[in-house]
Amino acid sequence: MKISIVKDKNQGGQLAYNFFKEELDRNSQAVFGLATGSTPLTTYEVLVRSDLDFSNSISINLDEYVGLAADHPQSYKHYMWKNLFQYKPFQHSYLPDGEAADEKSEISRYDSILEKNPIDLQLLGIGRNGHIGFNEPGTSFNLKTHKVELTESTIAANARFFDEVRDVPRYAYSMGIGSILKSKRIILEAFGASKAQAVKDMIEGPVSQQCPASALQTHSDVTVILDEAAAQKL
Ligand code: GLP
Repeated sequence: MKISIVKDKNQGGQLAYNFFKEELDRNSQAVFGLATGSTPLTTYEVLVRSDLDFSNSISINLDEYVGLAADHPQSYKHYMWKNLFQYKPFQHSYLPDGEAADEKSEISRYDSILEKNPIDLQLLGIGRNGHIGFNEPGTSFNLKTHKVELTESTIAANARFFDEVRDVPRYAYSMGIGSILKSKRIILEAFGASKAQAVKDMIEGPVSQQCPASALQTHSDVTVILDEAAAQKL
């Protein structure tokens, strides 16, 4: 794992942008794995302000809540449109369909998208409990796309985006860690002291299902972008 410590999340976004640019310069049809949450917002801001052209590229998002309408302000589909896609359209942008009637076929649809479009660059955030995507502690590292029951700590952390904690969905579809590890290159961003313990466990802890992000230690091309607060326990 390469570790880059930056001054703040804006500098982190700038650094992440360089990875996107490098990938696009190499191949305008590159496949980008994208993340949601507050962490990647500065990266998306820099991408939006840039002259990068994603119109020949593919994007595949990590996860989506089950049961939220696509136009719900907290759905990840809406988040992606609001923060990136309305300004930077991709040739195709894939997200799990949180409203799919048949869960099994939705999961196999997503797995076949991932098989047909191997991810060149995967952008990740990290949960306070070390989750990546919505792969909560205890999840097998071999899983592909699956339906997840969110932990209380993730529901509590994400409640800030909803009017009330009871409005936070209990389930989500997520790419599995097995799918994430197939990406050719991975960048993980973490900003703020609330991520410091998860960052330490990911980098210095044993490779263990208790810290899903520790699976990244087994990948050969991972760059972790941290601000000083997130790096304080290293
Ligand atoms: C959510 C997302 C993750 C994200 C994590 C951290 O649970 N599914 O992909 O990395 O939260 O979110 P934030 O960046 O808002 O701290």
